[in-house]
Amino acid sequence: MSGAQRILTIFGTRPEAIKLFPLVHALAADARFVSRVCVTGQHRGMLDQVLEISGVVPNFDLDLMQPDQTLDALTASLLTGIGKVLDEEKPDWVVVQGDTATAMSGALAAYYRKIPVAHVEAGLRSGNIHHPWPEEINRKIIGTIAALHFAPTETAATALFVENVDPATVHVTGNTVIDALHWITRRIGEDSALACGLSGLEARFAGRRIIGVTSHRRENFGEGMRAIADAIRRIAARDDIAVIYPVHLNPNVRSVMEAELAALDNVALIEPLDYPHFAHLIGISHLMLTDSGGVQEEAPALGKPVLVMRETTERPEGIEAGTAKLVGTDADTIVSETFRLLDDETAYAAMARAHNPFGDGRSAARIVELLAQRA
Ligand code: UD1
Ligand code: UDP
Repeated sequence: MSGAQRILTIFGTRPEAIKLFPLVHALAADARFVSRVCVTGQHRGMLDQVLEISGVVPNFDLDLMQPDQTLDALTASLLTGIGKVLDEEKPDWVVVQGDTATAMSGALAAYYRKIPVAHVEAGLRSGNIHHPWPEEINRKIIGTIAALHFAPTETAATALFVENVDPATVHVTGNTVIDALHWITRRIGEDSALACGLSGLEARFAGRRIIGVTSHRRENFGEGMRAIADAIRRIAARDDIAVIYPVHLNPNVRSVMEAELAALDNVALIEPLDYPHFAHLIGISHLMLTDSGGVQEEAPALGKPVLVMRETTERPEGIEAGTAKLVGTDADTIVSETFRLLDDETAYAAMARAHNPFGDGRSAARIVELLAQRA
């Protein structure tokens, strides 16, 4: 019997998979750990894209996604499904990431069994329980349960101290998304075919500046999504730009975007891109329009201005660094801020500077050492 620590890493959605594969790689390569992986399948296709590129093979796959799933049905099946895995595995530690239903349920199921939880990307707070919804509360729940908090930045660590989390359990590690971005950039460098699938669109849109778009936030469903679609339609009235928009598989997003934008020549609504292609899309974009959390971290790292279509953000670092700007979901504001970046070179240059407030690409290595110290 080895003295290795048994770590069970639990994730279920695209962003968790992207931000955890560097840690799963690092744990698997380290003899101090027995690393096991449970995916919930909260996402299916978008999760599988990341598993494939990263080479992570789960030990458990709960495969529980349902079309247009509700938060309560999803949470109920996550809790019972993860609970059974924990009873079988009996890990020494459970690792969860971020703020999804999978992360919150994984932490809660572990707590019910008195298994300590390590939280990757701890301490992000917007201060508003409805934006992002339900993620602000998910993070707070995980924050009250976790025995180890891996905060990406000093700001995130401070938010935990304000909530009276024991400072001895909080460690500033950087965000593993930067590790993932470095890894994928290296892989593309070794094999450019991994990210060549946009060449047809690049040829079609030659001579136009590309605007990369993503959106999926639950709090924006309905009115917010329609306003975003309206803004994109008005931006696309210009003949010097083209929009490339990999549309999230959530039907509440797709139905609106397809109805409003599918007929426009210079708007390409495409399927979700795998990670190398999405990193390439950020690279070829003049600017990004997004409501995504992860894209707010990646675009600054790649020196691309990002307009954040949200009312608040739990990631103030990009805004403080000047590469990200909150524009909300008012169509007029999204259009005018986009036009400003397209037409005002000084405003563009001020935002188009690479910043790395979110880490140096060595976060997973730090987390592994911190876990090893807790053996
Ligand atoms: C989830 C997370 C959100 C995260 C986002 C990343 C929760 C409550 N929400 O939101 O925090 O920012 O993922 O993208 O945890 N679908 C597919 N295939 C997929 C993925 C989704 O068909 O690969 C469709 C399904 O109909 C599914 C729906 O999208 O029911 C919603 O998925 P869900 O994970 O519940 O919510 P997201 O909006 O994706
Ligand atoms: N992403 C991707 N393909 C896409 C869109 C996004 O690989 O078509 C990546 C992106 O690089 C980032 C992550 O998915 O790392 C963000 O996921 P999402 O926006 O779904 O969730 P959030 O970060 O808002 O939780």
